Amino acid sequence: MSNRTRRKLLVANWKMHFLRASALDYLKVFRERVRAVMKTEIVLAPPFTLLEAVGREIRETQIKLAAQDLFYENEGAFTGEISAAMLKDLGCAYVIVGHSERRRLFGETDELINKKLQAALEADLLPILCIGETLEERRAGRTQAVLETQLRRALEGLAPSEKHLIAYEPVWAIGTGVNAEPAQAQESARFIRERLRSFLGEERAQDVRILYGGSVRVSNLESFLQMPDIDGALVGGASLDPVSFAEMVQQTERMVPS
Ligand code: PGA
Repeated sequence: MSNRTRRKLLVANWKMHFLRASALDYLKVFRERVRAVMKTEIVLAPPFTLLEAVGREIRETQIKLAAQDLFYENEGAFTGEISAAMLKDLGCAYVIVGHSERRRLFGETDELINKKLQAALEADLLPILCIGETLEERRAGRTQAVLETQLRRALEGLAPSEKHLIAYEPVWAIGTGVNAEPAQAQESARFIRERLRSFLGEERAQDVRILYGGSVRVSNLESFLQMPDIDGALVGGASLDPVSFAEMVQQTERMVPS
């Protein structure tokens, strides 16, 4: 599969934003604006509390639902946690795993992320594995070593046939307004795909969609999507405005050859 055949995908990571009323207002505007979009895959990742309400509103549409995290056990005495089966039950198709905010603020390790990834796959959820270097690591010339380690540890024990996506999200670009240069993002995405080749084999590596995330907005999205190894974007801040996010979806749609 080449970058022309891997389906383009945009994910809105709402993080800890919106209450029920504001989410419904968002959807009214957003749904209308993306009604005709068929080639680009659209995914919304609301907080847990809104999964059901958002899921209901998008049920009859082409828009898919994602959760922002999960716990790896199926059920049991794990106060406050949410399992893959529960997410599946709410209609989730995707789940974000190992976001840098979870690694940094909640102490998630590669080992934990590996378990979460396995649990997602067992429940038939498509995991979006987030990896990325900090500014310090980039300055020390360790970007590729960090990506390699995060990738290897997260994917350990996974069958090559298991489907997942990778989001390359340099930590220094998330929520800072300072995006990576498209060429830098491409260099990392190319490196990730090359490592995937050795972990999963040539064919599967070509198949895996790699997203870029970190201060993506209407004015820079296209430059990322033009890169041969970047198949979409994970959008935080700019996805909170339904008009902007719909505009990004439309931009992507226009770039996909029919
Ligand atoms: P941002 O967040 O677009 O606000 O930088 C991206 C992310 O954290 O996924």
